[in-house]
Amino acid sequence: MTRLNPPRRTSGRRLTGILAGAAIALTGVLGLGAPAAQGAGSTLHDAAAESGRYFGTAIAGYRLSDGQYTSIADREFDMITAENEMKLDATEPQQGTFDFAAGDQIVDWALSNGKQVRGHTLAWHSQQPQWMQNMEGQQLRAAMLNHVTQVASHYRGQIYSWDVVNEAFEDGTSGARRNSNLQRTGGDWIEAAFYAARQADPNAKLCYNDYNTDNWEHAKTRAVYDMVADFVSRGVPIDCVGFQAHFNSGNPVPSSYHETLQNFADLGVDVQITELDIEGSGQSQAEQFRGVTQACMAVTRCEGISVWGVRDSDSWRAEGTPLLFDGSGNEKLAYSYVLDQLNSASEGTPPVDGCSVSVTRADEWGDRFNVTFAVEGSSAWQVDIQLQGVQSVQNAWNADVQGSTGTLTATPNGNGDAFGITVYANGSWSLPTATCSG
Ligand code: XIL
Repeated sequence: MTRLNPPRRTSGRRLTGILAGAAIALTGVLGLGAPAAQGAGSTLHDAAAESGRYFGTAIAGYRLSDGQYTSIADREFDMITAENEMKLDATEPQQGTFDFAAGDQIVDWALSNGKQVRGHTLAWHSQQPQWMQNMEGQQLRAAMLNHVTQVASHYRGQIYSWDVVNEAFEDGTSGARRNSNLQRTGGDWIEAAFYAARQADPNAKLCYNDYNTDNWEHAKTRAVYDMVADFVSRGVPIDCVGFQAHFNSGNPVPSSYHETLQNFADLGVDVQITELDIEGSGQSQAEQFRGVTQACMAVTRCEGISVWGVRDSDSWRAEGTPLLFDGSGNEKLAYSYVLDQLNSASEGTPPVDGCSVSVTRADEWGDRFNVTFAVEGSSAWQVDIQLQGVQSVQNAWNADVQGSTGTLTATPNGNGDAFGITVYANGSWSLPTATCSG
């Protein structure tokens, strides 16, 4: 059940998105758009799409009247999360009285601009309406399930994936569930919410979403992992795990991030980075953004990244300047690092002496990954491969490959124009680059 390409479940609306993407690509070919290297996307969502991923943002409904905000959001992102408008207090302010106006405004903006929507969130201990905060026990369980059913039904067919349950685990070393009124209705409240959501919108992917689940060594990460493993083994309808990814100097991007994402993916669920922001500035912030992007791209089932806002000034942590655009809407260094990293997925080189080669990341293990090369334009080619850092290569297929570190040379061995190598990362997971002559 690998879903590499998010828009694969093609509904009419998703097709609009795909066609919009095709139109943008065509503009590039005709030379009307910004000059870009062959195969390189000039916006976040175009670059992410090269490897079948999306790039999203949270949107605040009240900012949709800000022209600079909407033009950046429309240009750069293709997956939209309502920052607050689909939460429990917004959608069911009085028990049994639902208000979808604010959520609908964001969903309509997203869908009419060819984007998809992440639903956020159906069940959470926070941002509950007052009536729910005062509730406990069976009454609350029933009210929660009704809320899940009503909201997921209202948005049926419009949501790519729902954060069915948000932040149900405690921080720190206990690995316990968070003590909330929802948890006190019984430990099976989470799976009950997933069953209700599946019934209400069978086509939406259903995610569990949390923060501080990035470091593989942390108890909270393992506790969520154990729950997901248990759900998968018992057939509870869960399709994905969302990693909020709110980072700062006290909680930096862990070096085990890629391992964490891969371990969850290996359970048979998709993973998504759902609320990315990284406090800081300049080079160090940019490198952390690149690290997160790299970690996602290294995991086949990491479907995409969403940042938690457009400009620094739009952030819930504005003073930490944690986003990709500054308060004036300019691209930050972190933006270029993310864009370059996304573009590294399929670096095509312009034809030199009549041939070109595309480079693609393939299977991945704890210490190594496969890279495949496809040559076009010549059958008597030579491809020079530049490894990154201290990477090394011990085996290759469908070509004669000379060398094992630094620059390698590949020539045809009678097996056609597509070949591959296994790269031992030795700490460097960047994709090698390649040039073709022939
Ligand atoms: C935040 C919003 O950005 C704020 O505007 C709001 O005041 C509080 O919630 N984890 C989540 C998000 O899942 O819903 C939170 O969003 C940030 C932390």
